[in-house]
Amino acid sequence: MTARPPVPVGRYLLFKSLKKGGMARVFLGLDPEVPGRLVAVKTLLPKLAGQKLHREMFQSEGKVGVRLVHPNIVRTLDHGVSDGTAFIAMEFIFGFDLSTVLRRLRKEARRIPIPLAVSLARQVADALAYAHELSDEFGQPLDIVNRDVSPGNIMVGFDGRVTLIDFGIAQTTIDVKSQIGSIKGKISYMAPEQVRGLPVDHRCDLFSLGTVLYEMLTGVQVFHDEGDFATMERVRRAEAPPPSTENAHIDAALDAICARAMTREVVDRYPAARAMKRDLDAWLAGHAEAHEPEALAAFVRSLFDRQIDEMRSDIEAARQVALGEAPGDPSDTAPSARRPPRLISEDTLAEMAGHGRDADREPEASPPPPPPRPGRAPRWAFAALGLAAVAAFATWWALR
Ligand SMILES: Nc1ncnc2c1ncn2[C@@H]1O[C@H](COP(=O)(O)OP(=O)(O)O)[C@@H](O)[C@H]1O
Ligand SMILES: [Mg+2]
Repeated sequence: MTARPPVPVGRYLLFKSLKKGGMARVFLGLDPEVPGRLVAVKTLLPKLAGQKLHREMFQSEGKVGVRLVHPNIVRTLDHGVSDGTAFIAMEFIFGFDLSTVLRRLRKEARRIPIPLAVSLARQVADALAYAHELSDEFGQPLDIVNRDVSPGNIMVGFDGRVTLIDFGIAQTTIDVKSQIGSIKGKISYMAPEQVRGLPVDHRCDLFSLGTVLYEMLTGVQVFHDEGDFATMERVRRAEAPPPSTENAHIDAALDAICARAMTREVVDRYPAARAMKRDLDAWLAGHAEAHEPEALAAFVRSLFDRQIDEMRSDIEAARQVALGEAPGDPSDTAPSARRPPRLISEDTLAEMAGHGRDADREPEASPPPPPPRPGRAPRWAFAALGLAAVAAFATWWALR
């Protein structure tokens, strides 16, 4: 492992790349204000940092995130821009996102036990009910709609905790067709009205959650097809056979829950996340066995087993290197006071990405161009200004 000093972003010291998503890269960092605490710091991908739309979306994600305080939503600690790098600091969740879990299950031709899948969906429904109903300080509804409920945005902690992590497009009226590049991969979980570019409300999240539940129950990505447009066409039609046709252990009540969440017409869908959660609760009440967090924890641990210890030791090793490299006690000085902050360069990113093993990391895209540094005048401009001031002062002195 290359010893490299941690990179300061805001008050955090980033020391390991965790994962790259469609919009952002997530790093593991230390929070000098809370010694020992690991944080996940999300930074906008350099290739998107030059685009106003993406900068605004990222800023809005930070603003929405800090408002959301719920056990099934990742806790956002802080957000801002540090020397040109837009960041969102969150609690670090030691676990895998559901897409990684589902991929592993597919590889092993296994499925999540049904009560665990239902319990997981119930926890996401609870998070959505909270977010959809949230108001501001004056009681005005915030109208938060996630718009991106998909397995990549649901974390399954090794302790069995389930959290919704990404409110990246929660308050943006995004035009799906024009943004197809950056939202690629999520289309198969979108609601029909979303892919049709129609106005959406909170009920699009319920369609998406239905699709996620369907996949957990059957192992089938029901609307996925070759290419974005074929997938969009399937989503538009929203024709999904009952999950029981794919998995004989599924009962009529679960078929009905999926069907009601995944209706093409919005008016026929669950009217609210709370209604869907009630049905999932009712189902779970009749199946008391094995849907506690410990059961999910045991299941995920059984799935990844050895890898969890490897992940932990990778993180510990990288943390030790970072602490050894950080000058002084990181708890006593803000990083910005010790070392001038700098934009995370592509070289640094590549090196950090190489730290340790990230077993199920998505393939890396080709390196994006270096980001612009918005709002920062070049050094020569300051020098020229200084010279002009000296010349003006000398002229005034001579003519006085
Ligand atoms: N707080 C966190 N703790 C651990 N891993 C995280 C955390 N937040 C995100 N990740 C990982 O990073 C990936 C990308 O994060 P996400 O917020 O979904 O970014 P994007 O907006 O690019 O989709 C997630 O799928 C997950 O694997
Ligand atoms: Mg995401």
